[in-house]
Amino acid sequence: MKRRSFVAAASAAAASSALPAQTAGGKKIRLGVIGCGRRGRSNLRSVLKLSDDIEVTALSEVYKPNLELTLKMVPGAKIYPDFRDLIADKDIDAVLIATPDHWHAYMTVEACKAGKDVYIEKPISVTIHEGQTMVKAARKYDRVVQVGTQQRSGKHFQEAAAIVQSGKLGTISFVRTWNYANLYPQGIGNPPDTDPPADLDWDMWLGPAAERPFNKNRFGVNPYQYAHFRWFWDYAGGMMTDWGIHLLDIVLMAMAEPGPRAVSTFGGKYALIDNRETPDTIMASYEFPNFVCTYENRVANAYAGGLPNYGILFHGTEGTLYVNRQYWEISTEVRRYREPQPRVEPRMSAARGDARNPSTDDHWRDFVAAVRKRSKPICDIEIGHKSTAMALLGNVSLRSRQRIDWDPMEETTENKEAQTYLRKQYRPPWKLEL
Ligand SMILES: NC(=O)c1ccc[n+]([C@@H]2O[C@H](COP(=O)([O-])OP(=O)(O)OC[C@H]3O[C@@H](n4cnc5c(N)ncnc54)[C@H](O)[C@@H]3O)[C@@H](O)[C@H]2O)c1
Repeated sequence: MKRRSFVAAASAAAASSALPAQTAGGKKIRLGVIGCGRRGRSNLRSVLKLSDDIEVTALSEVYKPNLELTLKMVPGAKIYPDFRDLIADKDIDAVLIATPDHWHAYMTVEACKAGKDVYIEKPISVTIHEGQTMVKAARKYDRVVQVGTQQRSGKHFQEAAAIVQSGKLGTISFVRTWNYANLYPQGIGNPPDTDPPADLDWDMWLGPAAERPFNKNRFGVNPYQYAHFRWFWDYAGGMMTDWGIHLLDIVLMAMAEPGPRAVSTFGGKYALIDNRETPDTIMASYEFPNFVCTYENRVANAYAGGLPNYGILFHGTEGTLYVNRQYWEISTEVRRYREPQPRVEPRMSAARGDARNPSTDDHWRDFVAAVRKRSKPICDIEIGHKSTAMALLGNVSLRSRQRIDWDPMEETTENKEAQTYLRKQYRPPWKLEL
């Protein structure tokens, strides 16, 4: 599919497919949840608000304390210690997959094969090849697959994208995205490897990832923070794919682009003294036909120059639009043609729009409507794959130490070093097969 038709198809979002008997005639969608951690449960809070349309009938979880917390929310749900039995259950119409990232592709493909619709958390995969296979599975088995990049359902994000597309900001030549924090010095700490806790099936948690001794941080579940698996290459891709994807997804939406033409990333672990593997400092630069986009992350210094500690800036010749989960704001440009240019600060806040809808609730509403209509959801798997691929490419460039020239429609590069990072081996017996 050519670039423009991809973008058009993505926004039209209206393919039809066969209606499963179970969800015909307005019956409730029966949902199984795989992965009952922090995000699994926050999704459930949105699902429970849609109780006329959807009911949670089954749970699968390999860590008992998380299962118990979730059962309190849905006391009658069936429990499947092995998610493959949940996927095989003919009385389930759809699944929510909220496990760590290294499981996403396998579980999504198997769920599609079993005729389930899927709500899959972001990032959809840990390699680009996995993402491609997920898109093929959704199409081959005619499934509705929504990706949990819920900012797309945020009305103020949609407004911000409309402003970018209206031309009001002039020619946009630079887009900047970032997350900053300061976790210096101990970060997530440095716990030793130990035996896994008795209430965790560690082998089933690792699944297709390499066999490793249990480490508290690799598993990462804790009551205070999002789980630390995010900071280990076997399971995820650091902030680049954890948060970067949310911001880059909005860049692709607003700029109506399928992906970058090149990427070059620098970074490393320079300051934190903990056992994470992913960088504490990273800067990815992406080249598009008419603009440059960056993603920056620091977790050893949180200074943001007066702006919030994360967000997106679209820099145009007439103005700059800032957007985060709370609001968007435009600063107009004051141009001067004399040289040297006088120091003129842009006028701030020429216009502002606040967030006014709960985006995860509305993302689920959209999923339910798509399941009923057999249409593509707002963040169809192909869109989620393109956004995930952009974030993953940032890490491919970092890890291969290469500038990568990329064809965003064919999803290919001639760069041999980069190619080795586009797919990965699964630990037997797990196999990703359509
Ligand atoms: N959309 C968002 O804003 C958002 C926010 C947070 C997290 N997420 C995504 O949600 C996913 C989960 O993140 P989290 O912070 O909730 O992690 P978490 O570790 O708290 O939860 C994951 C759960 O999956 C369970 N699990 C692992 N392997 C399993 C298996 N084989 N079968 C059943 N359960 C299994 C774990 O035991 C754990 O309870 C990640 O992909 C993350 O990127 C999305």
